[in-house]
Amino acid sequence: MYPHILALHSLFRWLVLASMLYAIYRAYKGWLGNKPFSKHDNTVRHITATIAHIQLIIGLCLYFISPLISYFLHEYKDAVHQRQVRFFGMEHSLMMFVGIIIITIGSAIAKRKPTDQQKFKAMAIWYTIGLLIILLNIPWPFSPLVSRPYFRAL
Ligand code: HEM
Repeated sequence: MYPHILALHSLFRWLVLASMLYAIYRAYKGWLGNKPFSKHDNTVRHITATIAHIQLIIGLCLYFISPLISYFLHEYKDAVHQRQVRFFGMEHSLMMFVGIIIITIGSAIAKRKPTDQQKFKAMAIWYTIGLLIILLNIPWPFSPLVSRPYFRAL
């Protein structure tokens, strides 16, 4: 079970990133190009936030079954000094949660704004901040302290 959820969580990151990039591209194009906020833009806004929420749920499941997190929670005093364990036990989980909350707020604000330009602007700014937080907290293979593969094999 654990290796499957871990592989799914690793793979799902690409969907999160692709949908975020597309939503941000649409938002800036619409905002700077004075375009109407179409039904398609609204769907992109909604689906992007939903994909982030699904990743949050997968991440939470992982948190409860991961042996690494179990070690972090049960041996906190020692574990908190180990870079890799602390990263997943605290930094990654907390910061990803914050990033997804920011996307959720941005989506809700964009939905309620009265004009098309304000919708695009809210989506552009909030989603960009959310994406930056997510990008900075992914354990990339090139990350100096905690690195994980681009694709996790089962
Ligand atoms: C957009 C949000 C997120 C992205 C893109 C993301 C991405 C990743 C990636 C790439 C890994 C490494 C997978 C591997 O070892 O191959 C990972 C591990 C992990 N993530 Fe996330 N994550 C996100 C959100 C979360 C959240 C919200 C939580 C918990 C609440 C979480 C919990 C974990 C845990 C516990 C691990 C490692 C477990 C282990 O090695 O045993 N993630 N995540």
